[in-house]
Amino acid sequence: MAFPTTRLRRLRQSPVLRNMVRETILTRHDLVMPLFVCPGTNVNNPIKSMPGNSQLSVDLLVERCKELYGMGLESVLLFGIPEHKDVHGLVACEHNGIVQKAVRALKKELPDLYLIADICNCEYTSHGHCGTIVNGDVDNDLTLITLAKQSVSLAQEGVDMVAPSDMMDGRVGAIRRALDEHHFHNTPIMAYSAKYASAFYGPFREAAESAPQFGDRKTYQMDPANTNEALREVALDIEEGADIVMVKPALSYLDVIQRVKTNFNIPVAAYNVSGEFSMVKAAAANGWIDEKRITHEILTSIKRAGSDIIITYHAQDVLGDL
Ligand code: PBG
Repeated sequence: MAFPTTRLRRLRQSPVLRNMVRETILTRHDLVMPLFVCPGTNVNNPIKSMPGNSQLSVDLLVERCKELYGMGLESVLLFGIPEHKDVHGLVACEHNGIVQKAVRALKKELPDLYLIADICNCEYTSHGHCGTIVNGDVDNDLTLITLAKQSVSLAQEGVDMVAPSDMMDGRVGAIRRALDEHHFHNTPIMAYSAKYASAFYGPFREAAESAPQFGDRKTYQMDPANTNEALREVALDIEEGADIVMVKPALSYLDVIQRVKTNFNIPVAAYNVSGEFSMVKAAAANGWIDEKRITHEILTSIKRAGSDIIITYHAQDVLGDL
């Protein structure tokens, strides 16, 4: 039936009707807020390029999580800034590591807040790369050992889910085997499966103090030009036991999110990364955009593309409206 019998404007006539036929609805259950934990007590170091975000010591992190939980947030993704770094990133595997301490404190004070730990070496290595260096490059298979150790250590502290973000081949299988050996067969793995070598991570590297001291991450993170390769990454991670696969960044990669969603029958996460967040904040601070509307539009577009879970620094700003 064509015009004039059919008029698509008919269903746009009132807010009630528009609400009734809306295809994509963002909910607080979709959102995960990344948080940065650092040593000390009563420490709040604002991250200048990411307004509203700070490196927080464990005590203040707990307070912040209480506030977010009270607003309806159900899950956070934890990143650690350790006191000391070492060449292999082994400080990430210690019982008294910074994220381990944060997990213990949070589980005590907020047992129902769902805790996801980022699993990677870059915040913990003195050179800032995501693994063990051999001959000037990250050695894949040696790095699997520390990643598995870090995962088990955090599971032992009570973390609910692990999210490896290193992009080593075979890491999902290595982590799954290690978790299972330690009886953590119910701890899910959310794999950063299609993680691109992106300039959008700029502000994060200031936040996590994890910028590589030499070279770049292009031998392990993906080329932004590729999507067939993303499907191969996802397929391998699923075969190795990933429970959720992630595409990162989100906005310049909505096509990848959609291809992953249509090709695989598995929950998909998208990481709306630091640079994407900072661009919105900078434009809003200049009065160039309507921040609230833009933020909703962005998060809705990520969900519409096929993402079930959205990791976003905007979570704190939108919770009140969901
Ligand atoms: C660690 C990691 C990074 C991000 C998440 N985990 C940085 C990187 O790979 O350089 C980026 C997150 C963001 O930009 O918000 N490997």
